[in-house]
Amino acid sequence: MGPSSRDEKVEDAVAREYRQLARRYDARWANYVESTVRETILRMDLQHSSHLLDVACGTGVLLSLISALFPDVKLSGTDLSREMLHVAKSRLTLVADLREGRADALPFKDNSFDTVVSTNAFHFFPQPEEALFEMSRVLRRGGNLIVTDWCDDYLACRICDRLLRVSSPAHGRIFGSDECAHLVSKAGFEQVAVDRYKINWLWGMMTVKGAKTYCA
Ligand SMILES: C[S@@+](CC[C@H](N)C(=O)[O-])C[C@H]1O[C@@H](n2cnc3c(N)ncnc32)[C@H](O)[C@@H]1O
Repeated sequence: MGPSSRDEKVEDAVAREYRQLARRYDARWANYVESTVRETILRMDLQHSSHLLDVACGTGVLLSLISALFPDVKLSGTDLSREMLHVAKSRLTLVADLREGRADALPFKDNSFDTVVSTNAFHFFPQPEEALFEMSRVLRRGGNLIVTDWCDDYLACRICDRLLRVSSPAHGRIFGSDECAHLVSKAGFEQVAVDRYKINWLWGMMTVKGAKTYCA
């Protein structure tokens, strides 16, 4: 199913927001991004991964850390913001295959990756269920999904989310940990597990994992 005009409006708003933010993103969000990316990597098993995709990779912070820690893993990333990808390309010259694209229409072939990861972006996706199906489509059988985002189980996040829902046209919604795990199961993933944690007094996060055990 193609995007509705409402979804296109959300994506335009995301593209506008990140066009303006791209050059300042790393400096402005350094602590938050570094903490969440590190917590995500701690929860990944990359020993057996040969090809990883980062969905909504932004400026490529996670990809660049993985390239330093696991130089043998082949890296790909996608994001709908050309400007965020531009920063990622300057950081990851020759190291990663970076493509412009939407989470619910990933610009990659079926069964291409051992690991699909997404950090700090799930709350923007206008069609989160479609995005999870796409992540499953591009994963090989036996591959792993890891999604980290802020979590509705925490009061401070809930308040931020409700304010952003009425003030920011780019913002979609955050999910509770059970709800997000349910969406991941519904998309066909198995061995679904969710971990909740705080990175500081404000941000309560969750990392949801799932395995693709069937062949698309
Ligand atoms: C908060 S940034 C996170 C970037 C990076 N993953 C990180 O952890 O630093 C959110 C990113 O999601 C991207 N994004 C939002 N909605 C998207 C969608 N539907 N498809 C692809 N990328 C999207 C934005 O362009 C932006 O780069």
